[in-house]
Amino acid sequence: MAEAGSFAERVKQQADIVRVVGEYVRLRKSGQNFSGLCPFHSEKTPSFNVHPVKQIYHCFGCGVGGDVFKFVMEMDKISFPEAIRAVAEKCGIAVPRPRERTPEERQENQQRTSLVELHKEAAAFFVQQLNGTPEGRAAKAYLLDRGLDSEAMARFGIGFAPSGGEALLRAMKQKYPEKVLEASGLFSRDQNGRFYDRFRRRVMFPIANDSGKVVAFGGRALGDDLPKYLNSPETPIYSKSNILYHLDRAKEALRRDDCAVLVEGYMDAIAVARAGISNVVASCGTSLTEPQVKLLNRFTRKIIVNYDPDTAGQAATERSLTILLEQGAEVKVLALPGGKDPDSFIKAEGAAAYTKLLKEAPPYVDYLISRARKMDMTTAEGKLRAVNFLLPYVQRVPDRILRSEWATRIAQQLRIEEPVLRESMRKAANERRSEVKARPELAGRAGKPAERRLVQILIESEDFRSRLAQEIRAEELHKGLEVERILTVLVESCESGARPDAAALAMALEDRDRRLLFEIAFESAAPSTWEEAESCLTVLRRRLVEEELAAVQRQIESQAAAAGAMGEMRKLLERKQELRRRLESPPQ
Ligand code: UTP
Ligand code: MN
Repeated sequence: MAEAGSFAERVKQQADIVRVVGEYVRLRKSGQNFSGLCPFHSEKTPSFNVHPVKQIYHCFGCGVGGDVFKFVMEMDKISFPEAIRAVAEKCGIAVPRPRERTPEERQENQQRTSLVELHKEAAAFFVQQLNGTPEGRAAKAYLLDRGLDSEAMARFGIGFAPSGGEALLRAMKQKYPEKVLEASGLFSRDQNGRFYDRFRRRVMFPIANDSGKVVAFGGRALGDDLPKYLNSPETPIYSKSNILYHLDRAKEALRRDDCAVLVEGYMDAIAVARAGISNVVASCGTSLTEPQVKLLNRFTRKIIVNYDPDTAGQAATERSLTILLEQGAEVKVLALPGGKDPDSFIKAEGAAAYTKLLKEAPPYVDYLISRARKMDMTTAEGKLRAVNFLLPYVQRVPDRILRSEWATRIAQQLRIEEPVLRESMRKAANERRSEVKARPELAGRAGKPAERRLVQILIESEDFRSRLAQEIRAEELHKGLEVERILTVLVESCESGARPDAAALAMALEDRDRRLLFEIAFESAAPSTWEEAESCLTVLRRRLVEEELAAVQRQIESQAAAAGAMGEMRKLLERKQELRRRLESPPQ
């Protein structure tokens, strides 16, 4: 991120991360690091660390980490350029005027600015249509009938897109170039290439990004038109999987209450917010995405999932649970009685009844157990199905003690002998280890000693960094390792011989790898020697041979089953012997 020679790079070199973080967190020296209570999750014992030499921070509890800019970005919820400025100011470094960007960047920025402007005007246009036209008044009657008063419509910026198909177009086409209209997603083209309004005869819900700018719309059909909801397509300012409806207004309450209510729909979020629970967001559509969870986790890790209790909602709840648990969220599930979604429940039973149920919402495992208990428990197969339904979730709980408690409870509730259940859990865990996608819970143990040490050596050793990187790359020794992706980026940056920047590398990695990299970077170790690096390489080389040997053995077995392929068989046996020899001979 901080390009060499850039202002950001200079600030980073001059700023002391310990001092900057120290403004937000009480830090104590511990060993070569500083540690304190993590400001990104609530904890009683410090697992948040700052490394004064590498100039990075990392929380072993919740996994956040990065450089001084990342820290200020996350703490103050500001952008990268703003963070550079903020850090520079904190450290008394003079800030230059913003540098001219490349023409492309400037154009893209301009386009985004115009798109935001267009959306703002469109939102105002839809509101005016709702209030000022006969057709709009009919839509208003529909909303009133659904329990929304004028005040609520104004509060949530609800509007109406008329049926004509050209209303918005006429209002905007003088003001915005065709390119902007095209990119906005608010218009479609007919067979002759002419624009018309994408949203027609729909109640319009403006969707804002987390800083409150309208970037898209969800349009609800008035009657039974399909689709029931039509949403904006992806545009340069709107990416569905990165946005949570109502987050912009929920932010403060999310932090204050340290809890979020997650619902499915626009009307649900509005109903819950109107019931006085402002810490509500909607995923808009059924499946929650990883970026959405990350976004939410910036404010709180405690999440109450309150999706529709219908089949689709249940499936969505279960899918979302997976993602939430993987991201280390603390999840409760509220399944409303009577098949009601939050909107219809609050309408029927009132805000107080809803608040009460919300307070009583059980931890997700209770919800899952009650789902499992609905399966046929009279037969062994039925129980097995119930266990197989539950296990994947339990296994995603990052904490071992908690996982063990859940196992005891499941065994009791489903009347399964606990040792038997634990055995299935162990088996499932072993199988999962061979899955391609590793889970964050593996961080901490992931990456065997030799692999981990190599990562450290590459970061630390000035003398033979590039030579080591070249060997790893040439023999593809990193392929298939748990630290494969870390080594891939590291090797690339080391080949030039330059000192790699752990925080910058981390930015290029996925969540789990980033955590692992930080953990490794924080492990203290003696200075490395080339001999030590060599012995790590030897371990990896052996591993490759062992793997190929196992593969050859498997082929031999399957060939033996298919009679007649003698030629092939001989080749395999020879290869097997050769591989065995290599394992037995001492490393060169
Ligand atoms: P629901 O079908 O539960 O809608 O979909 P709802 O919120 O209860 O709507 P009302 O009360 O009938 O008006 C939940 C959410 O899924 C998305 C919308 O975000 C909706 O709010 N959705 C649903 C779509 O994007 N498209 C659809 O066709 C349906
Ligand atoms: Mn619904």
